[in-house]
Amino acid sequence: MTVDSNFHCHPTVCAVGDDYHIMLPVKTAMLVWVQIGDECFYDESNGILRSNVDIHRIIVPARALNTARGYTLIYRKIINRTPYFPKSEDEVAIAYPFKPLEKTEGINIYHVSDAHGMIDAPASAAGFFGDDLDLFLLNGDIANFSGSIDDLSTAYKIASAVTGGSIPCVFSRGNHDLRGPSAENLAEFTPNCNGKSYYTFKIGCIWGILVDCGEDKADDCIAYGHTICCEDFRTREEAFIRSVIAHADEEYNAPGVKYRLIVSHVPFTYNKDVSDELGEAPFMIEIERYTRWAKILKENIRPNLMLSGHLHINVVSMPGSPYDCKGQPCPVVIGATPDTENNTFIGAAVTLHESTARVVFNDESGVVSHDEIIPLAGR
Ligand SMILES: [Fe+2]
Repeated sequence: MTVDSNFHCHPTVCAVGDDYHIMLPVKTAMLVWVQIGDECFYDESNGILRSNVDIHRIIVPARALNTARGYTLIYRKIINRTPYFPKSEDEVAIAYPFKPLEKTEGINIYHVSDAHGMIDAPASAAGFFGDDLDLFLLNGDIANFSGSIDDLSTAYKIASAVTGGSIPCVFSRGNHDLRGPSAENLAEFTPNCNGKSYYTFKIGCIWGILVDCGEDKADDCIAYGHTICCEDFRTREEAFIRSVIAHADEEYNAPGVKYRLIVSHVPFTYNKDVSDELGEAPFMIEIERYTRWAKILKENIRPNLMLSGHLHINVVSMPGSPYDCKGQPCPVVIGATPDTENNTFIGAAVTLHESTARVVFNDESGVVSHDEIIPLAGR
């Protein structure tokens, strides 16, 4: 299906809680809504359809889209939004099929993070499963920083090429996303739960929690120039993790949940103990907090698998491995090696089975560098 000429790419259908956020970067002012069956869901603000936005968001109940297995994206280009008798063009409707996750075995997930502005190479690598892809993870640092709308659209352009608007995705923030002139507006342009970048999601039999470490160095690191307050953010996030555990029956213990995943850009159980021009071991932050997070996640949520990026390596870290410095709650797949100079990318293809996962690392030209069956935790 070709991309409508008024869009930058196909929509991206991202899971948030019990909803999908359908994200759509557009080239011109337009009103946008989604019809599922007889029901319409609008990009609106307190009853006002939004047109003055570069990236639209339409929130739809996951159950409705899963049942319908398709949605119609409808838009009207704005001619002149005057206070009275505003003018817009005729409606344009585009029907998208949608493939909800219905299987409970052999679930194919592709993980991309750290694309750092590349689109073609990570999208090609993510084509590993072809039409058998079930879930696409965009796990942070997809753009190099949050500058222009082009930067903010990078993740959606990759998702467009990989999913065509028809396969569920999960969007997770990376530390580079906190940088640049548009970083403070990130929540406006990305899936989030009431403005928060940490949240849980349900896709078929998969329950997941996004753990967002924010920046990877201390708030007072000179590289941030007084623009960051992630320590407070992580304190609030810890309260959120505890509230998820307090509501386990509606979250990871809910009926129908078979797999429990952690999605975290930063593999926070690793200690990156290196020194550089920013000082002595600038990445060695929050050791106590992250050790505590690993413990409470392990003891309560009992996750099967964690997916991370950030380190620009492709490694499977089993509990007790050299990458496990704080007590991993489960195996961690660290799955992205970008090379922006040569425009190459290695991502991670993960297939969930009953008590194991197949983990494949492959590049944009299909070369497989690793293929392993690992045990899932908590089985
Ligand atoms: Fe990162």
